[in-house]
Amino acid sequence: MQNTIRRIDMTQILSILRAIAGQLDFRAVISAVSTEIRTLLPHDHLDVALLSGDRTLVVAYETGLHTEWDASTTATKPVETSPIRDLLSGEVNHIVTDDAQTDARFHFAGAFSQPIFSAGLRSRLHVPLKVEGRVIGALSFSTQKMGTYCLADVGTAQIVADILSSYFFALQQSELAKQSELQQMETEARAEGLRVGALHLTEELENARQAVGMDLHDQTLADLTRISRNLKRLANKTNLPGSELRPLQEDIEHCLRELRIIIDNAKPSVLQFFGFGQAVEALLERSVRSDTALLNYQLYDDGHSGIEELPANTLVALYRIVQEAINNTVRHANASKIEIKLAQIDERLRIVVSDDGSGLPKASGRRNSGLNNMRTRASLIQAELTVATRPDGTGTQLEITLPASKPIIQVQGVVRQ
Ligand SMILES: Nc1ncnc2c1ncn2[C@@H]1O[C@H](COP(=O)(O)OP(=O)(O)OP(=O)(O)O)[C@@H](O)[C@H]1O
Ligand SMILES: [Mg+2]
Repeated sequence: MQNTIRRIDMTQILSILRAIAGQLDFRAVISAVSTEIRTLLPHDHLDVALLSGDRTLVVAYETGLHTEWDASTTATKPVETSPIRDLLSGEVNHIVTDDAQTDARFHFAGAFSQPIFSAGLRSRLHVPLKVEGRVIGALSFSTQKMGTYCLADVGTAQIVADILSSYFFALQQSELAKQSELQQMETEARAEGLRVGALHLTEELENARQAVGMDLHDQTLADLTRISRNLKRLANKTNLPGSELRPLQEDIEHCLRELRIIIDNAKPSVLQFFGFGQAVEALLERSVRSDTALLNYQLYDDGHSGIEELPANTLVALYRIVQEAINNTVRHANASKIEIKLAQIDERLRIVVSDDGSGLPKASGRRNSGLNNMRTRASLIQAELTVATRPDGTGTQLEITLPASKPIIQVQGVVRQ
């Protein structure tokens, strides 16, 4: 060990503080410190090792000679493999060696001490970085010469470490905060990706459904209508008694009626050509016609709900939700009246479907897909959906709200959103 005592003075402390002020990453801080401290504590390699929050892992940032310890090569390593694990665990409060290559303290079984040889390190000086008495890492100086450091250098190195420790701690915390913010953003982005993907999928399904509707209309419905006409003609021509052909004709008429309903449901052409209000009115009309108990319906649309300005996929989703709500009223409510209101309140579009029927059952063990599908469709378009008893305690009320889209205003040929 060398015998000259090197002491740090106030000017040097101030110049270290000035050098690290404003540096926002580990390597920039270490490299600034390395330049400032080089005459006081000579080194070919300077590194800072930092413990993870649970103190089981360690990551190192270095300047000078490049080794495999550096975070750019080895992200994190278990503390127990660190050649300075005794210092990191707080068992010793410094390590000074004249020759790290032969010093047994660095070379236990499983020690990650190979870089000592590959970088040709000999003299080493290690002091802990502490915050509020807790070891958060270590500051290490190394040279390729033997006997560079003496015990008196420990004090100087510890002063430098004390200056740096809270700085590194703050950097580490902000890095962790950034990472968790990033993770949060990634999770949100993934969820949004899934939502958009599922929305595309339902759009595709909707398109496929409409294509089937059109094929049924253009092909099957046309064929059946022709068969029905031919049958009528045949009945007029042949001598068969009417009673033998009539059931067949009635069956075909029945099939035609059913098919028209299926096509109407599959192909919301009214929605595309005449808008949401008209399409819902058509649904209501059909339901009243098909359900003898449902006596009347009411659609309130003040024309300012902004619903027609929504994107096509949102409109289709809302249409399908309202369609299922109407179907449920017809199938389960035994209601005499159904009301649908479209309005905009506080920049939110609100659709309410309510009936004066029997109300929702208390609990049902059955797995029903209707309500689930409505919820899925609502979440895909980021709408809120509730299904509950009406505020007056009778019947059922379904409410959907979502941000109203801004109307497109045409001003002197310029389209403004
Ligand atoms: N307007 C309503 N009035 C009374 N009960 C209702 C109403 N809407 C839904 N329900 C009840 O909620 C249950 C769940 O409805 P959901 O739409 O999920 O299933 P479903 O209509 O029975 O079957 P499907 O999967 O074919 O839609 C219904 O079985 C019914 O008991
Ligand atoms: Mg249903």
